[in-house]
Amino acid sequence: MNLALDNEARAILAGNDRGGYTVPTAGLYPYQWNWDSIFAAMGFAEHDRARAWAEIETLFSGQWPNGMVPHILFHKVDPSYFPGPDIWGGVGPLPSSGISQPPVAATFIRCLYEQDKALGAAHVRALIPRLTDWHRWFITWRGEGGAICVSHPWETGRDNAPDWDAPFAAIEPVGVEEYRRRDTTHVVEDERPRSYEYDRYLYLVKLGRESGWDEAHIKADSPFRVADPTMTFILLRANRDLLALAREFGAPTDEIEGWIAAIGAGAERLWNPEIGAYDCLDIRSGQHSGVISNASFLSWYGGLHDDRMLAHFERIRGLTRFGVPSADPGHPAYEPRRYWRGPVWAMMNWLIAMGLDEAGHGDLAEALRLNTGEMIATGGFAEYFDPRDGTPAGGRNFTWTAAVWLAWASPTSGRISCPASS
Ligand code: GLC
Repeated sequence: MNLALDNEARAILAGNDRGGYTVPTAGLYPYQWNWDSIFAAMGFAEHDRARAWAEIETLFSGQWPNGMVPHILFHKVDPSYFPGPDIWGGVGPLPSSGISQPPVAATFIRCLYEQDKALGAAHVRALIPRLTDWHRWFITWRGEGGAICVSHPWETGRDNAPDWDAPFAAIEPVGVEEYRRRDTTHVVEDERPRSYEYDRYLYLVKLGRESGWDEAHIKADSPFRVADPTMTFILLRANRDLLALAREFGAPTDEIEGWIAAIGAGAERLWNPEIGAYDCLDIRSGQHSGVISNASFLSWYGGLHDDRMLAHFERIRGLTRFGVPSADPGHPAYEPRRYWRGPVWAMMNWLIAMGLDEAGHGDLAEALRLNTGEMIATGGFAEYFDPRDGTPAGGRNFTWTAAVWLAWASPTSGRISCPASS
């Protein structure tokens, strides 16, 4: 059974391989997405490390002169996806979007390197300056007192999380031209964001495009600027892993050490004393979102061993059959089938478990691994899952679910173990 699933997962990666890069799934997401590709690389690493390095290098071939690595690279135009390259008007070396995505790359590049140093050394040497430029872009344009912000919900990878409800309510999406969504031709509507949200997504894209993706302008004027646990904790860890690589390769380390100290302190800005949890902080209004998401549990992954999220983790674990739901089932905004408003995402679980394990909660990490494995074994390689019963939802034959199965959740695959972040 598991061996058959391992082979099915490898076949999904092969089927979504477009030659040097992998699409998340055919139809719904026909391009190269940033953090999807890093997870894809870890799936390939289970059986083909050279292919894993190629995936990462193709992603970095789209890096902009200002250091930003885009969230989508449009290698070949495909009309099944909207908004495409013309709507984004990216200004990098390849047609791309104009925003980034969670920087998991440094962590998994280090992990991949540890699997085979002889194969990885030349790749890492070339990637260290690129990672450093990208991380500097985050610090410069998305940093707010050490907390890391986004200029668009899509930048967090948690597109329609309830965290954006209040900032979106303050936005009037004027001047958005008429458009036709394509996502709802691939997936049923109630598993996707609402039109209300799409209007605002496109409004923010329009503002960015019209500024020529001028980050100084976006930082000063965008109506949407929200500090987020996904970005903050992931960048904090990514810097630790980048530092470890820089030390090993004799690259400069002072600047990276400064970032680690700044984000380590700034993460506290995301602590919401009212709910006793990490959540989002709207920089424009000064308000916390008041929602515990699966990103709230990335604090351990970020290296914050404060254990203040532990009681919430245990509570939420008791509320659903499969965890970790993308929004707290105890929150009124929870919708167990709708994308980032409730469903479980396998790759988030992997990150959460990595952190739990390193923080001395190996039992919880292992329980989450088994729970995720059972969910995938029952529901298949879906994009996300209903936490109540594991019903598969969203796209199917999904790259990162297959990759996370191979790298982490499968009991029988070649599994990848990553070095602790220290
Ligand atoms: C959606 C997800 C995002 C992911 C992308 C491709 O936009 O919210 O996290 O990267 O799809 O799978």
